[in-house]
Amino acid sequence: MSETNSLGSRVLLIGGAGYVGSHMLRNLLTCGITPIVFDNLSSGFRRFIPKGVPFVKGDLRQLADIRKVLKKFKIDCILHFASAIVVSESVSDPGRYYENNVLSFINLIQAMREADVQQMIFSSSAAVYAAPKKLPIAEDALLGPNTAYGHSKLMCEQILRDVAAAHKDFSFVVFRYFNVAGAYDQGGIGENHDPETHLIPLILKAALGEKKSVQVFGDDYPTVDGTCIRDFIHVDDVCDAHFLALKNLTKSARNQTFNLGNQKGFSVKQVIDAVKKVTGQDFKVQICPPRAGDNPKLIADFCKAKEILGWKPQRSLEKMIASAWAWEKNRKAGLLA
Ligand code: UFG
Repeated sequence: MSETNSLGSRVLLIGGAGYVGSHMLRNLLTCGITPIVFDNLSSGFRRFIPKGVPFVKGDLRQLADIRKVLKKFKIDCILHFASAIVVSESVSDPGRYYENNVLSFINLIQAMREADVQQMIFSSSAAVYAAPKKLPIAEDALLGPNTAYGHSKLMCEQILRDVAAAHKDFSFVVFRYFNVAGAYDQGGIGENHDPETHLIPLILKAALGEKKSVQVFGDDYPTVDGTCIRDFIHVDDVCDAHFLALKNLTKSARNQTFNLGNQKGFSVKQVIDAVKKVTGQDFKVQICPPRAGDNPKLIADFCKAKEILGWKPQRSLEKMIASAWAWEKNRKAGLLA
């Protein structure tokens, strides 16, 4: 990743202390770009923000918080990573998702308009798609979320499109992430949700002996082995795409939506086997009932990102697992704060 931000622009990372946001922060710093980080630390970590990086603790649900930052710093572009992300939780607690993801987003847009900030790169999700009729899923596939999480992301996308249509100086890029995994190539940060609900970190915790077994949610789906299929994408590949979007935000990428995935599907059982192979550890696997809101198969078509951004994922599932394994082992050994 040698590209620097050709805009020479001032970047605000919202959610820069979280999983993907903190990786973007490290990648930006490596390229000589110091952004400002805004985060409420509800699921992010202060220690993920290196010394010398301007940090503002604030909550997007409070309009005053984001107004204050945009008044204090002259921001050109906002990279918005902050959101509630647990698909199944959004089924049982939809209000939290609309408040965290949509109400916050409306505040953000209002504050941006007031401060004349004209650019945003927004982290959306594969959860916006309807159950796919065809795989891989291209960006123009039928939309139709089956969870409040997916609806909340789609609403934000729509707001961006409406704002861009009304205000000609406004530019955005939407990224629909598939299943982000892995940890920073150079170590020090990784996926650290509390509680953890994501597949790869949970399998690794079983490999480490921190969990008694891995639960497989459903083995009767219409897939190769009955378990759900997901398309995993390395977090640093996601960061590479954001760099390319920054570079092309007012040009070829302007007001475009891109999938970020590997165009390869792995079943839950296949991921478990891959973890056993990479880590050399064995552990118990327990078949459990299906989880609410799960789509049986999600695989991205990334041709559009390749064509317009020149982006291509570089890192394999094994690489995602190996880097996450290194992070988990260091975390367990207390080598990380
Ligand atoms: N799973 C298990 N056991 C576990 C955890 C997960 O079997 O202990 C299964 C799930 O049921 C699902 C698959 O593994 O079938 C992946 O689940 P994750 O929780 O890791 O991820 P999701 O696919 O639910 O969601 C993630 C992100 C979303 C994003 C979505 C896009 O959290 O933000 O990927 O595909 F929208």
